[in-house]
Amino acid sequence: MIKKKKILISGASSGLGRSLANTLLKYNNKIYCIGRSSIKNEKIKSINCNFKNPKNIREKLSILLNTKKLDYVFLNAGILGKIKNIHKCSLDEILEIFKINVLANKEILDFIIKKKIKTKLIVAISSGAALSPKSGWYLYCSSKAAFKFLIESYALEDNKRKYINISPGLIKTKMQNQICRVDEKKISSVKKFKRLNEKNKVPMPDEVAENILNFIQNYKINNNGEYQDIRKK
Ligand SMILES: NC(=O)c1ccc[n+]([C@@H]2O[C@H](COP(=O)([O-])OP(=O)(O)OC[C@H]3O[C@@H](n4cnc5c(N)ncnc54)[C@H](OP(=O)(O)O)[C@@H]3O)[C@@H](O)[C@H]2O)c1
Repeated sequence: MIKKKKILISGASSGLGRSLANTLLKYNNKIYCIGRSSIKNEKIKSINCNFKNPKNIREKLSILLNTKKLDYVFLNAGILGKIKNIHKCSLDEILEIFKINVLANKEILDFIIKKKIKTKLIVAISSGAALSPKSGWYLYCSSKAAFKFLIESYALEDNKRKYINISPGLIKTKMQNQICRVDEKKISSVKKFKRLNEKNKVPMPDEVAENILNFIQNYKINNNGEYQDIRKK
């Protein structure tokens, strides 16, 4: 397991981010978090920032981070957005999800590069949704595809750092609960997810966090910025 490292995680107040933070804390890692809601753990150094306003991120990070080294960065915070047909998605909804799922990550990365913070690996929490669109999922799929390209672009240009897009598979978090509330008569693509949730076949965030951490600790980069679906590993 990763031990005694300095690690930044975005969105650690719930779900996967919280499980990553709690697991890493057990191994004496120093954890820094930035995200919308407060972290209820005194051992974690955290700052609140709503990524709907990505321009605030650099200032918040300069308050949060008192280090020139972050061994790992987990770009984890994200939202699903509304699941509905594309012609019903407003420009404001599209802008909002792009701010949170894409532009906020650009601000975090630009801060790290500008401040010359040494980093071993930047882990972008991606999704199978980044690879192809699904009916009713324009907001999430398009923002995750743009996030994947963002990471691949940094990986091409930044020869000082390693980047990886990790697709963790489904995780039993608020996001899955939101999917389960969608009317499958209107958006049939949610059926598959609802059935998996009903059968308790969606892994819990602690299990997924452990899987991600086990994967990256032995990870050797082939192509910087590559996409890895770790469900198959
Ligand atoms: N769940 C899945 O099945 C699944 C599958 C593949 C990939 N993923 C990816 O996994 C990552 C974590 O998602 P999750 O399932 O753990 O969801 P989650 O439980 O909803 O956690 C998302 C985290 O992001 C934070 N966040 C949301 N909106 C924010 C905003 N405007 N500004 C700052 N922080 C914000 C949340 O803060 P609050 O506590 O304030 O909401 C929370 O800490 C996401 O990138 C997601 O796309 C999830």
